[in-house]
Amino acid sequence: MAEVSLGVNVDHVATIRQARGTDYPDPVEAALAAERAGASSITIHLREDRRHINDSDVSKMALAVKTKLNLEMAATDEMIEIAAALKPADVCLVPERREELTTEGGLAVRGRENELAPRLARLADAGVKVSLFIDPDLDEISAARESGAPAVELHTGRYADANGERAALELELLRRAALHAVELGLQVNAGHGLTVANVGAVAALPGVVELNIGHSIVARAIFLGIEGAVGEMLTAMGRN
Ligand code: PXP
Repeated sequence: MAEVSLGVNVDHVATIRQARGTDYPDPVEAALAAERAGASSITIHLREDRRHINDSDVSKMALAVKTKLNLEMAATDEMIEIAAALKPADVCLVPERREELTTEGGLAVRGRENELAPRLARLADAGVKVSLFIDPDLDEISAARESGAPAVELHTGRYADANGERAALELELLRRAALHAVELGLQVNAGHGLTVANVGAVAALPGVVELNIGHSIVARAIFLGIEGAVGEMLTAMGRN
């Protein structure tokens, strides 16, 4: 079985910087440390309100990242143009609402295939691999395939927020979703709310290629440093 890759999301390094309007800590420095510790890619979310990562971070990150850059963004015209010009290896399209604390649910793809398809085609023409961030819902996965996406990222938030039997049920929904996506020929990524305590079962799901993890790694880095926190996560994923 192929190893599951870890993409490290460094948005919250920028959140700490923005809390004081300083020029530190630098998310690029964090990205390079994550790569040294074994991250396979670096994720940043350029939000419409630029609440953490800003346009200058995106340009610097594109030059500095040695593995590959995964740009998370809303499927707006502004963001599609930024990504088509920047040409990161990967783009993950997410829903976005200004008042949310974090990305709260998956993208609603069903019913929007005709709107999304030309945007996906524009990014594919620029050489970008696009994933759609969706809930573990079989019909949404089929809709992602019909829109022309080569990959999906399954939203693990409901699993991460649950305990006991509820968590087992959410994990089963993720497992069925992963199998359905594999059957349709989609690359399967997953993420949101993952920690060293809950990541193992997600890393073991059938067909999962990449996990994208941010908040818990940056939080653990306060105590362990970025390299320690990434190493700890890789161990929890069964990688070390
Ligand atoms: N994947 C996607 C698509 C996300 O929007 C986020 C949050 O920015 C993550 C993964 C990482 O989530 P967390 O910060 O909870 O690890």
